[in-house]
Amino acid sequence: KKVPNKLPDHFLWGSAVAANQSEGAWNIDGKGISQADVVPYIERDKISDIPVFETREQIEAGIRDELKIYPKRFGIDFYHHYEQDIRLLKELGLNSFRTSINWTRIFPNGDEETPNEQGLLFYDHLFDTLLAHGIEPIVTISHYEMPLKLITSYGGWKNRKTIHFFERYCRAILKRYQSKVKYWIIFNQLNSGLTDAYLALGLIAQEEDDLQTAKFHALHHQLVANAKAVKIGKEINPGMQMGSMIYDMTTYPASTKPEDVLAAMQETDAGLFVSDVMVNGAYPSYIIRYFQEHNISIEEEADDEQLLAEHTIDFLAISYYLTTVSKHGDNQLDTIAWNMGEDKMNPYLETSEWGWQIDPIGLRIALNNLHKRYRGLPLLIAENGLGARDELTEEGKVHDAYRIAYHRQHIQQMIEAVKDGVQLIGYQPWSGIDIISAGTSEMSKRYGFIYVDQDDYGNGSKKRIKKDSFYWYQKVIGSNGETL
Ligand code: BG6
Repeated sequence: KKVPNKLPDHFLWGSAVAANQSEGAWNIDGKGISQADVVPYIERDKISDIPVFETREQIEAGIRDELKIYPKRFGIDFYHHYEQDIRLLKELGLNSFRTSINWTRIFPNGDEETPNEQGLLFYDHLFDTLLAHGIEPIVTISHYEMPLKLITSYGGWKNRKTIHFFERYCRAILKRYQSKVKYWIIFNQLNSGLTDAYLALGLIAQEEDDLQTAKFHALHHQLVANAKAVKIGKEINPGMQMGSMIYDMTTYPASTKPEDVLAAMQETDAGLFVSDVMVNGAYPSYIIRYFQEHNISIEEEADDEQLLAEHTIDFLAISYYLTTVSKHGDNQLDTIAWNMGEDKMNPYLETSEWGWQIDPIGLRIALNNLHKRYRGLPLLIAENGLGARDELTEEGKVHDAYRIAYHRQHIQQMIEAVKDGVQLIGYQPWSGIDIISAGTSEMSKRYGFIYVDQDDYGNGSKKRIKKDSFYWYQKVIGSNGETL
């Protein structure tokens, strides 16, 4: 038996965005208000003064439009530009494109009985346009776009009723788009619930007496919802590929001290416990031990175990941006915050302006580890990219050699992983076209191969301009990764 010496012929070359960061049109055609629509833009030099989004007052201030700039409300107005943008993506050479369905276009408040037809029609048109250009849609069902009412009136994913609302949403879209969409990613970065209570779990942190327990309840409900979505999808059309996603956070021991090596192993397990459940169909023993020792009891319903066991995912999607470092005492399970402190920095790696450590070899390590852990399950790189400040020259060009270098090095390592035997089905760099940042709501943290003339406040012509990286990625796709 041989291992491949290049990428497979039908490799999914694409790019990835999310509805809430690109579409805009936040209150049009029956769309309801989502969790992302109330997160304000805060100028970068003021960010450290602002607490993370965790109180009801912050949400209510958003509803009242107090801070005036809520960039995910306007995005890059993809809602009205998608035909033109898809033409550009076609010119770029993509054969696939990842985006999400904004839950609030389909069920504006989340708890309605019937879906909003205008919302459904928008995605009909979007998917038809992609297919007409020979671009396969890869669709995320939940990408931080929960209807706000499910948070303020129901308590987000902590409430078991949310599973029921999610099921209804899944049934509506899986049925409607069954002949248009083959690849589904049920949850974006399901493990981001370990670090982000509001966007990932729909929790208002300051209202939780025991945030730790609430976090694991919410994650359990998402895991059950994930299994139900697989079940519904397979019942509707067994040909649909029902995947889900985690962020990869490969970690290195801070030293060769066995305690640090053990901490790195435990932090790896922490980051992968949700994918262990989704792939293997049961909670792994290390998390059961953690729950026992921390007096965390998950309220399970009778058929949860069976659901998890019977409806595992067809492929695992990952995002890969950076790696980290673990030392004795670190355990991501214990907190609900993202530690990016000095003690997490690797002296051998370069760091982006936003503090993310760039590690192409880590991608090969990550893919190999997941391949072995999940015994050859197909993997998809659903996000990978460099958030950077771009400059538009007077001649209307963007010379983003740094972005080309980033993707070149990552693609090289990705190909090495395929040669190692990893079953990789595609590469979807974040974000193809510039969009609003999920974490900071900035426009100036850009990831695209296509520049969008718009600033952090939403000012600008919105003109789309091809960056140097556009022409580079075009050649990469055209040669199936041979010309880097
Ligand atoms: C991933 C998210 O975590 O990272 C995306 O799935 C996000 O939504 C991406 O945009 C990059 O993060 P940021 O904060 O730089 O936009």
